[in-house]
Amino acid sequence: MMIKISPSILAADFSNLGQEARAMDAAGVEMLHIDVMDGHFVPNISFGAPVYKMIRKDFSRIFDVHLMISEPLRYIDDFVKAGADIITFHVECDSDVQATIDKIKEKGCKVGLSVKPGTPASAILPYLEQLDMVLVMTVEPGFGGQSFMEDMMPKVREFRQAIDACGKEIDLQVDGGVNDKTAKICVENGANVLVAGSYLFKQEDYKAAVAKLR
Ligand code: DX5
Ligand code: ZN
Repeated sequence: MMIKISPSILAADFSNLGQEARAMDAAGVEMLHIDVMDGHFVPNISFGAPVYKMIRKDFSRIFDVHLMISEPLRYIDDFVKAGADIITFHVECDSDVQATIDKIKEKGCKVGLSVKPGTPASAILPYLEQLDMVLVMTVEPGFGGQSFMEDMMPKVREFRQAIDACGKEIDLQVDGGVNDKTAKICVENGANVLVAGSYLFKQEDYKAAVAKLR
């Protein structure tokens, strides 16, 4: 299975976002993971579309936007215009899930759905065939630098089986506490897209860190 790496910009130096994005681009990662938090869906506030729009020119591959916000449907236009290639939102949000999927697709963007640790796979399975990616959170969303929850692996396996059974090309992403040790566990359980924030950005040499993770 081809593994894709998506560094979470949340752990980058916010005073040098353009440079950080260029460095990860040069390190050969497939995606850049952009964590949008509204202080309502999660207890933290990060940044919105105007911020990541500024660094679109600094990264040549996929902008992987992870919305941890209560009302994703209200902001889809802004997020697409700012340069998202794929928008992942939470099935636990307050917006209508089907309407949000439809809106993202209508705008020509790929779509992902995510589950928090307490939400079962069954919450997403009815939408599976419409998705380009499933995101299994391996920490409670809201903050970087938390410990990996290995007990999410049965859920990863359940999605891997469902994705293989449906025959569509759907990425299976894990996010939270991913490092060179936990990445292996995720991949063994069927994940093919690894989000890593603090593990990658805390290292001096991004290229070496990405190679090690891979
Ligand atoms: C957490 C975010 C993650 C976070 C991961 O709510 O969705 O993307 O940045 O950070 P690490 O890799 O440090 O756990
Ligand atoms: Zn994330």
